[in-house]
Amino acid sequence: MSVAVILVAAGTGERLGRGVPKALVSLHGRTILDWSVAAFAGHPDIEMLVVVAPAASCESIAAGLPPHARVVAGGPSRQESVRRGLAALAGDDLEWVLVHDAARPLVPAAVIGAVIGALRDGADAVIPVLPVTDTIKRVTDAGQVRETIERASLCRVQTPQGFRLAVLRAAQAATTAELTDDAGLVEALGLVVTTVPGDEAAFKITTPYDLRLAELLVAR
Ligand code: CTP
Ligand code: MG
Repeated sequence: MSVAVILVAAGTGERLGRGVPKALVSLHGRTILDWSVAAFAGHPDIEMLVVVAPAASCESIAAGLPPHARVVAGGPSRQESVRRGLAALAGDDLEWVLVHDAARPLVPAAVIGAVIGALRDGADAVIPVLPVTDTIKRVTDAGQVRETIERASLCRVQTPQGFRLAVLRAAQAATTAELTDDAGLVEALGLVVTTVPGDEAAFKITTPYDLRLAELLVAR
């Protein structure tokens, strides 16, 4: 397997509110980005890691990365950051790519393995998902309930999302719309997106509560 990983880490982390890019915030003694790099670095199928970093931090981040990793500066949106990560893979002879939010530092090896496994089985695009456990309702701007959404067919989507590299490139080239996940681009092409089981541990650190939760989990 020739798999590349694009770790998108160029966000500012507004909702975490630390005043530094989220990927550089400390989690139990090392940065959130370092945890994410470590989650992928040891995997035998992964040949290359591209970290898409905040422009001002590229040099300092590059200094701490393993030899098969490279750093590129991110863009103003997540999707533009993914685009720049893909561009950094141009010319490399790779068949698959995983796109992962650096803000999901505790993603278990089993989830990474399941995504790669589904690609190996022939999937064009793979996403890890979890069931929705809360009741979901649509509400108006004024906070009044419009309807209750049927929950059984809904799922929460995590990363890493895996793709045949040529498929993600084609999907990116075909749209200028900004989506919050990469598989959405592949859906827009009309291709099948496969799901594998996600894991609660792959949650995204978005708010201060999430960071506290991550601290508790890694301290154990
Ligand atoms: N990301 C990125 N480039 C951007 C925006 C986001 O690489 N322009 C990355 C983030 O670094 C993160 C992932 O995409 O790893 C998911 O985004 P999110 O959780 O929204 O992170 P932030 O955009 O940093 O947080 P916020 O929206 O609260 O500012
Ligand atoms: Mg964001």
